[in-house]
Amino acid sequence: MTQCKTSKEIGGMGHSLKRKEDARFIQGKGHYVDDIRLPGMLYMDIVRSPYAYAKIKNINIEEAMKVPGVITVVTGKDLEKYNLHWMPTLMSDTQMVLPTDTVMYQAQEVCAVIATSKYAARDGREAVKIEYEPMKPVMDPFKSLDPSAPVLRTDKPGKTNNHIWHWQAGDKNKTEQVFASADVVVKQQMHIPRIHVVSIETCGCVADYDKVNHHLTMYMTTQAPHAIRTVIALVAGHVGLSEEKIRVVSPDIGGGFGGKVPVYPGYVIAIAVSFLVGKPVKWIEDRSENLQADSFARDYHITAEMAGTKAGRILATRFKVLADHGYTDAAANPSKFPAGMFSICTGSYDYATAFAEADAVYTNKPPGGVAYRCSFRVTEAVQAIERLTDLFAMKVGKDPADIRMQNFIKKEDFPWHSPTGWVYDSGNYQAGLQKAMDVVGYAALRKEQAEKRARGELMGIGISTFTEIVGAGPSKDFDILGIKMFDSAEIRVHPTGKAIARFGTKSQGQGHETTYAQIIAEELGIPAENIQVEEGDTDTAPYGLGTYASRSTPTAGAAAAIASRKLRDKARKIAAYLLEVSEEDLEWEPGKFFVKGAPEKAKTIQEIVFAAYTNHPQGMEAGFEATNYYDPPNLTFPSGAYICVVDIDKETGAIHVRRFVAIDDCGNIINPMIVQGQVHGGLTQAIAPAMYEELIYDEEGNILNGTLMDYLVPTAVESPKWETGHICTPSPHHPIGAKGVGESPTVGGPPAIANAIIDALSPFGITHIDIPITPYKVWKALKEHGAYD
Ligand code: CDP
Repeated sequence: MTQCKTSKEIGGMGHSLKRKEDARFIQGKGHYVDDIRLPGMLYMDIVRSPYAYAKIKNINIEEAMKVPGVITVVTGKDLEKYNLHWMPTLMSDTQMVLPTDTVMYQAQEVCAVIATSKYAARDGREAVKIEYEPMKPVMDPFKSLDPSAPVLRTDKPGKTNNHIWHWQAGDKNKTEQVFASADVVVKQQMHIPRIHVVSIETCGCVADYDKVNHHLTMYMTTQAPHAIRTVIALVAGHVGLSEEKIRVVSPDIGGGFGGKVPVYPGYVIAIAVSFLVGKPVKWIEDRSENLQADSFARDYHITAEMAGTKAGRILATRFKVLADHGYTDAAANPSKFPAGMFSICTGSYDYATAFAEADAVYTNKPPGGVAYRCSFRVTEAVQAIERLTDLFAMKVGKDPADIRMQNFIKKEDFPWHSPTGWVYDSGNYQAGLQKAMDVVGYAALRKEQAEKRARGELMGIGISTFTEIVGAGPSKDFDILGIKMFDSAEIRVHPTGKAIARFGTKSQGQGHETTYAQIIAEELGIPAENIQVEEGDTDTAPYGLGTYASRSTPTAGAAAAIASRKLRDKARKIAAYLLEVSEEDLEWEPGKFFVKGAPEKAKTIQEIVFAAYTNHPQGMEAGFEATNYYDPPNLTFPSGAYICVVDIDKETGAIHVRRFVAIDDCGNIINPMIVQGQVHGGLTQAIAPAMYEELIYDEEGNILNGTLMDYLVPTAVESPKWETGHICTPSPHHPIGAKGVGESPTVGGPPAIANAIIDALSPFGITHIDIPITPYKVWKALKEHGAYD
């Protein structure tokens, strides 16, 4: 655990400070997009397609225009006049803002009704009559690649199939050789299903175009305000919206989880309407629209293989992925990595040979592929390697804990070069798993399990020992639409020693206002409570790529430390001047410089800052401000050892998660209480895809569970008591030794649960069930394996 070097009053690293932002959240004083009300504001509602694939024959707005309060109905043809009917996605694909002739998925935006109230807009929406000519949609990604499948993206000249991209990493030939000569090979087909982030707040915006000053203010639910401003300028520059005339403001956000990174058509339509009518336009999605039409996550079909020795040594892995992106690739991955960081699929294990490849296809489903609380496809990779490791353990007849201990990368082998090209910065996987086993009481649980099995009862113990990869990223490899993935901090300390710090990231509930202040408090000794943190306003914050994929601490957190250190260097100069000694004679302790050997001769940081404005050395710039744009030299590699214990009712298949122990390693911890909260929330979002969540479509493209009545989101009732703990291997390249943490539980949790369930069912010869593992799937598998004969 991180040792606190600062007093409680200063509240630097390692203090469990209460979250500054919670005072407003728990008193209903949060300020969200839907709280914004501007004079003369209009409201927008969107008419959506009932079909997954259809020609639009006619849009009749006559009745809608008769609804009191309806001002206009905007169609794709209207936007086409301004060349605003298509927009780029963050993956350099293209996406319709509104269709001019064909709809490509159920719930796609077809036209927008603008009215003086949201109720009038909704009534107008119901009154629009659209004639469609339905076509047979392509719903199966495997069939989408069939030469007989219709080519979906006819808008792309010369496109003759539904293939989007191919990506690969590792050594194909060497991997084939190792597999050909290996004693033991295990192979498993898995589907990591399509799910949704389901954040509490849906997406929305208020677009406010000022016709006189040619200025757009865009209040919106975005995790990446600066990148969005640049994209708006690139898309709408030709109609006069240039970047200095655009201000994107992202106020409080009620959960993002990757789903608020993409640019949705609703945002663009609202901007276009505000631009044309010169009035503010508000668009707020409802819950069903959010679930049915916003970017999905996952949807990877994976063939995973592991080769090894009979003695249990892993020698190689091979992964083949088919990624269903829906009708356009609207993920938000770094440009060079269309399959995200999937190549972390070699996991926490020490072997030299691997090959991973992925192909992406179009289907008639909503677009996306967002990194749902996951550093770009790491969840999929971790599910594959951790399930595979258990299958391998089963095949060679070893305990899954033993197989992991036998194959772990050793702590002395870091930095470790993975067979797919990553350099893991630090870790101690043996210590993590040992701690988790001690906490859960592994040996006693195995004994209990053996006794229960003898009585015919189903109890399972599942392990996941995962490695994450977060903090994109070194700008030499990481960019989105060409914008390098650095991040930034700007600190201004006022004459009285109180500060404001601004960042290029954007909290969606993670607690940045507290933890960034703690980093600065640690470095400068200014109490965290005296440091105000601001994010999300492109007019004031320094440029940054935003918050997703657990990148804030590794990038902007580092920038905060470096900017603070610049200020400390300046403080040393001022202190030397004030104390009339040389800089070398000074020593620092959090909050003051003092003369070596004479601690009574000291200047506090507050005195020094005051002097920076009132009595600074001649020749030195006045003021006390610093900025840093931090380009990390590498990613950070958090890890975890999770153990889940389940009991299953054999007759009904009902699964009870009895214990869940999560030991995380996120390097040095800024705020233990916030990290614990992150892990609790992340684990609940792990149990979700493991046992409940999946977006399901029928062959006609109808979504079968498009409301929260049918799409099962776990609540406190379904969540077990999470038992959390830590080990700490600081990141050697991060200025404060921290690694990201927000995603580890979501990434590492599902395979621990799946492995526990399969472990419980293994006496019947059951080796795999795709997540979500529901009671019905368990019951069916038991029936198929003769459990009820
Ligand atoms: O990018 P995002 O903020 O979602 O993820 P993160 O950097 O992993 O951090 C989530 C929250 O946990 C932030 O408020 C961090 O400051 C905090 N955290 C921490 O206290 N110590 C760490 N080593 C990592 C994160």
